[in-house]
Amino acid sequence: VQKFSGYLIKLRKLINEALEANLSGDNVEKQVLTAMRYSLFIGGKRLRPLLCLVGAKAVGGQIEDVISYACALEMIHSYSLIHDDLPIMDNDDYRRGVPSNHNIFGESIAMLAGDGLFTQAMILMTDRKKIKKLNYRRILMATQMVMDSIGWKGMIGGQSADLLAEKHKVNLDEVQLIHAKKTGAFIAASVASGGLLAGGNKEQVYTLNRYGQYIGLAFQIADDLLNISGDPELLGKSIGSDNVKGKITYPLLIGLTKARQVGENLIVKAVKLTEKFTSAAWLLKDLALYIMQRAY
Ligand code: IPE
Ligand code: IPE
Ligand code: MG
Ligand code: MG
Repeated sequence: VQKFSGYLIKLRKLINEALEANLSGDNVEKQVLTAMRYSLFIGGKRLRPLLCLVGAKAVGGQIEDVISYACALEMIHSYSLIHDDLPIMDNDDYRRGVPSNHNIFGESIAMLAGDGLFTQAMILMTDRKKIKKLNYRRILMATQMVMDSIGWKGMIGGQSADLLAEKHKVNLDEVQLIHAKKTGAFIAASVASGGLLAGGNKEQVYTLNRYGQYIGLAFQIADDLLNISGDPELLGKSIGSDNVKGKITYPLLIGLTKARQVGENLIVKAVKLTEKFTSAAWLLKDLALYIMQRAY
């Protein structure tokens, strides 16, 4: 099983510290803040903020300048997981090794905790003190790119298509489109936003985005493979749930071996793109290789 290199583990520690600093403070509305912190801090690989930091490094940028922006991406991701697990969505009872947010705080607080994490992300992305080293025009561009990737053309659209697909038979092309939207778009925007914020040129940002699309699609294929053959202890979520819901996935349509092969091929394409970078190519490569080899 591929493990993060020491440097990525160090970056993840930085992310966790920055998240703590960016979601604490006076506990006025105790219940919802507790629920927000519960899901954000209980676990998580921190893949999207890591990608943002590595995207910045790939164009020669500084980690410190984009770290709070990277934290905002993890808040957005955590919001999407809380909502994804709700009974009216995937109805999943475990996440990040513990009971899902709604199983602890109830459905209405879980919904608000998701909303609260999303708005906290927006507060962070527009906090002049935290992003003072960045170019304002680039912040606007990156933020629109991220919002596009999680809106109706991206994650929200993908989540909606994903739910509808439980009721209809979908083919491989349709599954690919759903995956690209619900998971790939935000992963691509995460790595590209780092490059954009840190001063990358058009071609660099475009290349990071394509790299992100490849690994993002592979990431969802790996997620679906792990839902069949993963270790629930390691994963921190229940397995077999896609099957119960009748979810159409790559492994269901083409089998486990072929699905894995499709994922591996996408990683090969992503790794090829890392050759275009000099400063952090090895980190981009490390992250790409990790995607299909991960056990959780
Ligand atoms: C799970 O994302 C949801 C998908 C998009 C497949 P992660 O596997 O990144 O979840 P955490 O953040 O590590 O919990
Ligand atoms: C989650 O997809 C995608 C988002 C949260 C946007 P899944 O529903 O396939 O992910 P898991 O398996 O619950 O983590
Ligand atoms: Mg889902
Ligand atoms: Mg789910």
